[in-house]
Amino acid sequence: MKTINIDLKENSYDILIENGLLENIGDKIRLVYEGEKIAVITDNNLHKLYSNNLYTRLTKAGFKVSIIVIESGEASKSINTLEYIYNKLACEGITRTDLILAFGGGVVGDVAGFAASSYLRGISYIQIPTSLLAQVDSSIGGKTAINLSYGKNLVGCFYQPKLVLIDTNVLSTLEEDYIRDGMSEVIKYACIDDKDFFEFLKNLDISSLPSHYEDIVYKCCNIKKKYVEADERDTGIRMKLNFGHTIGHAIEKYFNYESYSHGQAVAIGMYNICLESEESGYTEHGTSDRISEILIKYGLKYKLPSMDMDKFGKIIKSDKKNMFSKLNLIYIKRIGEASIVNKYILE
Ligand SMILES: NC(=O)c1ccc[n+]([C@@H]2O[C@H](COP(=O)([O-])OP(=O)(O)OC[C@H]3O[C@@H](n4cnc5c(N)ncnc54)[C@H](O)[C@@H]3O)[C@@H](O)[C@H]2O)c1
Ligand SMILES: [Zn+2]
Repeated sequence: MKTINIDLKENSYDILIENGLLENIGDKIRLVYEGEKIAVITDNNLHKLYSNNLYTRLTKAGFKVSIIVIESGEASKSINTLEYIYNKLACEGITRTDLILAFGGGVVGDVAGFAASSYLRGISYIQIPTSLLAQVDSSIGGKTAINLSYGKNLVGCFYQPKLVLIDTNVLSTLEEDYIRDGMSEVIKYACIDDKDFFEFLKNLDISSLPSHYEDIVYKCCNIKKKYVEADERDTGIRMKLNFGHTIGHAIEKYFNYESYSHGQAVAIGMYNICLESEESGYTEHGTSDRISEILIKYGLKYKLPSMDMDKFGKIIKSDKKNMFSKLNLIYIKRIGEASIVNKYILE
């Protein structure tokens, strides 16, 4: 088993990573929780696949378990789902000293995390991420959120889990499209922070990818740790994790979140922001070609779709990460080295 500690003073916690870790889930939870009652929040896809097993393991370990099932998909990051969760928690008699387990992808993690942060003014929760994207990204760092009809992730807070439990075995049931999506974020980490990791991914025999999940997740969590510890609230260096995301978010929004998944949109964003900085002379020659090659290898598109550029530009200017009329762009100088560049937004 691999362990990473996220050092955030009184909000510190461990990430435990292991193939098959769920078999001993009870022991792992006991590391941080002395109580009896647990509310598992999961989505209907994961419920079908894992709830029976999870329920048996947890009850055998002496826990009293309730399972709250939400619909899978982004639409569940809503006020309605949140209210549904609050009511279920209250109905099951969950109190402030009990525990929530967020068992699922980024959707479950974000909405269950926000529910944990606010139900009874905050109760403890553990993240058990089940998608590759959630294992390398969304379960770490304490960002929780729901969406509004005006945009994504507009309501939320920073609320760190007590523990993150990652069983890479569960990726065997994740659909190929979602693996591809997660790999876009994996490639992002390599681009901004680790040229050797980039080389490793570039040379990897794709058919052996599953046997490397544990190492890949470990590598990415370690990179994210560095940025989260240095900048928990995402106002400085943590923004480097947004490489490719300004363009990526705008593509997702332009197509009403229907045509491009997050990972795919970020892939296009990484290539195109790099192409721009390379053309301006900032980025080492050939870097964007290296990015397009690796994206192609992992089944990701890299070319900008055809769009009305005025409309697209307006969406970019309205990005919620802009501060003081400045657009914070993440450029890479070369593979493994990122920097934050402020650009004034001209009205
Ligand atoms: N909080 C953060 O820091 C952060 C960071 C990045 C993304 N996010 C959020 O994460 C969300 C996307 O996460 P996602 O890509 O995991 O989406 P998701 O939670 O919708 O999961 C994708 C699909 O895979 C299914 N699934 C998940 N794990 C599975 C498994 N092991 N086996 C079979 N099916 C499985 C789910 O039921 C769902 O249908 C977005 O809402 C995004 O805003 C949050
Ligand atoms: Zn992302």
